[in-house]
Amino acid sequence: MYTMRTLLLLTAVAGTNAQATVAPQSTGFNSSFALSRAQIEKASLSEDMAASLNTVVNFDRSQLTNGGPREDAFYTLPPLSPNAAGPPPPGTLLRAQRFTDPAPFAIPPNTALSRILYTTTNTNGTVVPASAFVLWPFEARRFPGPGSGGHSAGEGAPTVLWTHGTSGFFASAAPSAHRALWYADAAPFTLAQAGYVVVGPDYAGLGVSESWDGSAVRHEYLVSSASARDALNALRATREAFAGLLGPRFVAMGHSQGGGVAWGVAEALASDEFADLIPGYLGTIAASPTTDAFSGVPEFILPWVGMMLDTIFPGFELSQWLTPLGVARTELLGEIDGGIAESQQLYLTGEAVVREDYWDTWYADAYAELANAGRKPFRGPLLVVQGTADVYIPYDITSATVQDTCEANPENDLEYLVVNGTQHVPTLHATRQTWLQWIEDRFEGRPLAKPGCVRSDLESFLPVEHYQSTGKSFPQWAGAPEYSYELPLGL
Ligand SMILES: *[C@@H]1O[C@H](CO)[C@@H](O)[C@H](O)[C@H]1NC(C)=O
Ligand SMILES: *[C@@H]1O[C@H](CO)[C@@H](O)[C@H](O)[C@H]1NC(C)=O
Ligand SMILES: *[C@@H]1O[C@H](CO)[C@@H](O)[C@H](O)[C@H]1NC(C)=O
Repeated sequence: MYTMRTLLLLTAVAGTNAQATVAPQSTGFNSSFALSRAQIEKASLSEDMAASLNTVVNFDRSQLTNGGPREDAFYTLPPLSPNAAGPPPPGTLLRAQRFTDPAPFAIPPNTALSRILYTTTNTNGTVVPASAFVLWPFEARRFPGPGSGGHSAGEGAPTVLWTHGTSGFFASAAPSAHRALWYADAAPFTLAQAGYVVVGPDYAGLGVSESWDGSAVRHEYLVSSASARDALNALRATREAFAGLLGPRFVAMGHSQGGGVAWGVAEALASDEFADLIPGYLGTIAASPTTDAFSGVPEFILPWVGMMLDTIFPGFELSQWLTPLGVARTELLGEIDGGIAESQQLYLTGEAVVREDYWDTWYADAYAELANAGRKPFRGPLLVVQGTADVYIPYDITSATVQDTCEANPENDLEYLVVNGTQHVPTLHATRQTWLQWIEDRFEGRPLAKPGCVRSDLESFLPVEHYQSTGKSFPQWAGAPEYSYELPLGL
C-alpha cells in the first residue's frame, strides 16, 4: 500500500533518473578475459585453477574505471619539451585533470575527484613519472591557522596525505583508477567526508607504466623510503596544480604497505630533503605498518618483492628465491597484471613456489635494510595503530619495531595504540574516532594528549567476538541510469 509520501518519493526518484528503463541485475563482469592455452600450460594450472583465475581477473578488471590505466588516456605520459635536458625535478606537475568525471567511480555523494601526473624518484634516484588522486570534501574543515587569531580565512583546506596499502604491483593497480579508490570508507572516503582534502599517491609503477625513454616504470614494492618520496612529491605537485585550494598544513596517514610508507614520510621529513614541506607538517599516523618485509606470508612476499628486485640490485634473479614453478607463476602474474587476489590463486595452492634456502641469499638482508620503516630518526609526532589479531602484520613485529624506535629516539613522541582482537584493515574501522580526533587535534594545535613514547590500549565496547570481524565484498557498480533501482531513494 502506497502512502502519499511514498508516491512523492517514487516520483522524485523517477525524476532524478530521466531514463526510466531498467536493466536486469548484471551477474556478469565488465571484462571477458580468458587465459590462453599456452599460459595455462606454462604455469602448470589445472582447469579448475584456470577457471578460478579467470573469474578473479574479470572481477578485478570490472572494478577499474574507464578500462583502467592501460586504456585511460589520462595515464599516457606527456612528452618532455624538446628543449629539456632531461626529466624535470621530483615534485613537478606533469598533468592535472582538475575535474575527473565521477560517474564511473563509486565515491560518496558530494565528494569530487581530481587526478595528477607528476615526477618522483625511485630507490636509485632516477626521476620517474607517477600518478595520484585528490579527493575533495564538499565542506572543507576550517581550523585556526598559526598566528591567524582564530581564523583561517584564505589558508586553504586542511590536507591528509593518504598512503594506501597493497593494491597490486603493476600499472592496473593504481587506486586512482579503482572505482572505490581501493580503500573506500576504510580511510579516504571517511577523511574527505570529515572535511579534509585527501591527496592519494598511487606510488611509482602503479598507474603510469612507461617512462619517457620507453623503459618500464616498476613498482618498488614495500620500499617505504621510495614510496614515501612518491607521497611527498605528490603533495608538492598537488599544491602546484591547485594553488590556493590546499593549505600548507598536512597530516600523513597510511595503512599496511602504506603504514610503512607513512612512517617513511616521517623519516624522510627528519632530514631537510623536503624542507619546503616541513613547516606545514603536523604528524603521521602509521596503521598496521610494514616494518619487517619478510614477516609476512613468504609465498606472497618473495614473488612480490622478487619480481622487481633487479631494478634495485641488477644481479638478482627470481630463481634465487623461487622454484621453477614459482618463477613460471610469477611470469603469468605479470602477463595478467595480477594483484593480491590473483596471487592467492597462483601461490597459495600448497605447491612449492618458494625455495627453502632463499634466506641464504644476500639480497633478502640488503632489501630489508632498504625497505623497512622504523628504528630510524623520524619527525614526530607519530601515532602507530595495530590490531592484535592481524595476520598480515603480526602484532609482535610492530611491537618490537615500536620498542626499538623508542629506544633510538627517546626524546620523540610516539604513541602506540593497540587494539585488542581486531584484524588487518578492520583495525582502521575500529579506531576511526581516535584517528579523526588525533588529526583534528593536530590542526587545532592542541598539545599531545600523551607525549613521549607511550602505549595505549583500546578494548571493544561489547565483547570483541560479537562484532563483524572483516569487511565484505566491494559493492557492485550501479552508477548507470538503468541500474538506478538498486539505489535506495536514488542516492
Ligand atoms: C567497461 O570496460 C570497458 C573496456 O575496458 C571500458 O572502456 C569501460 O569504460 C568500462 N565501463 C565502465 C562503466 O567503467
Ligand atoms: C641501485 O643501487 C644499488 C644500491 O646502491 C646498487 O647496488 C645497484 O647497482 C643500483 N641499480 C641500478 C639499476 O643502478
Ligand atoms: C582481549 O580480549 C580478550 C577477549 O575478549 C580478553 O580475554 C583479553 O583479556 C583481552 N586482552 C587484554 C590485554 O585486555
